Amino acid sequence: MSLFRASRIVLASPSLARPAAVRCASPLWALRPAAFPRLQPVSALLGATRSHASAAPATSAATSVGAPGGNPAQLRTTIRFKIHDKIGALTSVLDELHKLNISLTRIESRPAAPGVYQFYLDFHAKDEAQIQSVCEELKDVVQDLSAVSSGNVDLVAAQNAPWFPRKKSDMDTFAEKVMEYGDELDADHPGFTDPVYRERRAEITRIAKTYRYGQELPRIKYTDKEIQTWGIVYNKLTKMYKTHACREHQYVLPLLEHNCAYAPDNIPQIEDVSRFMKESTGWTLRPVMGLLSSRDFLNALAFRVFHSTQYIRHHSQPLYTPEPDVCHELLGHVPLYADPDFADFSQEIGLASLGASDDDVEKLATIYWFTVEFGLCREGDNIKAFGAGLLSSFGELEYCLSDKPQKVPFDPKLAATQKYPITEYQPLYFVANSFKEMKEQVRDYAATHIHRPFAVRYNALTESVEVLDTKDKTLRYAQNLRAELGRLIGAIERM
Ligand SMILES: [Fe+2]
Repeated sequence: MSLFRASRIVLASPSLARPAAVRCASPLWALRPAAFPRLQPVSALLGATRSHASAAPATSAATSVGAPGGNPAQLRTTIRFKIHDKIGALTSVLDELHKLNISLTRIESRPAAPGVYQFYLDFHAKDEAQIQSVCEELKDVVQDLSAVSSGNVDLVAAQNAPWFPRKKSDMDTFAEKVMEYGDELDADHPGFTDPVYRERRAEITRIAKTYRYGQELPRIKYTDKEIQTWGIVYNKLTKMYKTHACREHQYVLPLLEHNCAYAPDNIPQIEDVSRFMKESTGWTLRPVMGLLSSRDFLNALAFRVFHSTQYIRHHSQPLYTPEPDVCHELLGHVPLYADPDFADFSQEIGLASLGASDDDVEKLATIYWFTVEFGLCREGDNIKAFGAGLLSSFGELEYCLSDKPQKVPFDPKLAATQKYPITEYQPLYFVANSFKEMKEQVRDYAATHIHRPFAVRYNALTESVEVLDTKDKTLRYAQNLRAELGRLIGAIERM
């Protein structure tokens, strides 16, 4: 899904818009106070769990419970497991870890099912044998236990940073870390009382749940009713794009029609769309079953991975949806991710989020909100829309270019802390001069405002994130840059 906050995508006229909570796999949604993971004093978490496993905050809790020593050979490890909500459940786990002299660096919990909580524990193991010992001791007191090791920790300063994925397959751990499921509908959702629609949603989210890195993206055989809904949305919006969408969106959409079978009578398959994006800018799609945290969603952007829903809104109200759906993803987001400058801009936000503090992640998610979801850009004397929340909303697309809302030049420092409503059209939009300039602005913002004691880079060859924490790695990076610079100078000299 997209980084969509508790808002709405209203495709109808403003009069059809109605407040509704929006669920989505996007950081935007997750910024809601009730959903956003907050640091909690460890005493609060441990005290709570002594009574019930679920007594941690309703959606999740993350806490630092002590840094390890400076041993440079440790393995930073995450284990995950489920616990049934009962008195003393988590205490049993912590007691076992205490006996093994394990020093935790982070505890996170999320509801997995009624009465069941999924836990993620981070710690630094001295070797693989110690990880095995931990799993052996815990297997009798928890369910569905598995371990994920993310490699050596050799930078003391980085040891307290939140865990982040180092390679694309690490995002498989997100598949079941959703904060809310895509088949659970709010009471005011148009499909809430439709058992057929609800079963269809459940079917599609189950498919997303089982997807793993490297597999072909799941193809959905959409029903005639679903295709008809898509067609209504498609025809309505594409008429408006000619006058309201930015030039990059208008340039790419015909290419998607030609290469990925975008058409009023066909819902494109994300596998085909992802292949097109990969060839264009190196971005790929990944299916998601429900809401991801802001951190997980933004972290994926660092790898040029965009989480996308595959289900569609309810047919009874084709011009309204209280949440991002396949129309929002494919019509709003995808065309921009085929533009090189926009693609780089989005990745900058993702890279800045890796290992960032919760406060910084929230600020980056807000920047994302005011750009990728609700951004405007200048084209000569005109202003056009490039945000997916606008380009998939018939009503707000018209409204945002009118003289009703306030429009100010894009400034990431201001956008990062700008308040915004989540159940009505935005009163204020940021206007970027260009994607290229926006990318530089966010890069500068990350360099000066994101407080992180280490640097990262994305290695496109290995599709992994490298922490530049040793002289060898940094020197190798510099040598690669020198070689690239030599090729660049050679090319310029030949001109
Ligand atoms: Fe979105």
